[in-house]
Amino acid sequence: PFFWAVIPAAGIGSRMRADRPKQYLPLGGRTILEHTLDCFLGHPQLKGLAVSVAQDDPYWPRLPCADDGRILRAAGGRERADSVFNALQLLAARGADAADWVLVHDAARPNLARVDLDRLLAELADDPLGGLLAVPARDTLKRADADGRVRETVDRSTIWQAYTPQMFRLGALRQALDDALRTGVAITDESSAMEWAGYAPRLIEGRADNLKITRPEDLLWLQQAWVRKR
Ligand code: CTP
Ligand code: MG
Repeated sequence: PFFWAVIPAAGIGSRMRADRPKQYLPLGGRTILEHTLDCFLGHPQLKGLAVSVAQDDPYWPRLPCADDGRILRAAGGRERADSVFNALQLLAARGADAADWVLVHDAARPNLARVDLDRLLAELADDPLGGLLAVPARDTLKRADADGRVRETVDRSTIWQAYTPQMFRLGALRQALDDALRTGVAITDESSAMEWAGYAPRLIEGRADNLKITRPEDLLWLQQAWVRKR
């Protein structure tokens, strides 16, 4: 199916403790954000792409892709959900239909493989609702008490780590985010907004190396993998 893409890139990367937001750190000679955008820009089914950028961001205008006519710049918001919501509003204003698919993907995940993107699109093409890439929990999981002692071992077989892209119908996602933001309920991804609205998004197993750069060691790991790959 054809689809729209939304890339929230308006975070400050506080856990990364770098001199700039992590999406602008270098990876293999370009910025992380440019690699992330590349995962989508070459796709034949892409209808359009919106990237959410903070208002006073000095880095975005310096990227060559800032002039790319296929990319719409949306306003970053206070939380990730605000940034995504603003991008959805922009896409709707540019003619995206409520029934169209939207894939939301973190700017800080530059290692999305084309096979993962295509599997997500193919698996959910006929789904009324949508879903997300996710990875089954690998390690044995413990629930702790306040003193840092193990209270119990959690059944791992039903636990997944939520990745992106997360793929939903534009209208339903916009409504769920709008309601969640108005109510002030804590949501950390699109799926949690949809869950809160009463839906059950489908989990599509993805590759673990589509990791989100969160802390300095994540970038070190990815730089090594990048060198091996190219
Ligand atoms: N993001 C956004 N708008 C916000 C907050 C986050 O567009 N107000 C984006 C980030 O740029 C990132 C993605 O959402 O691509 C995932 O968020 P996260 O990994 O938490 O990034 P940051 O919020 O930048 O990092 P931190 O939480 O460590 O400050
Ligand atoms: Mg954050």
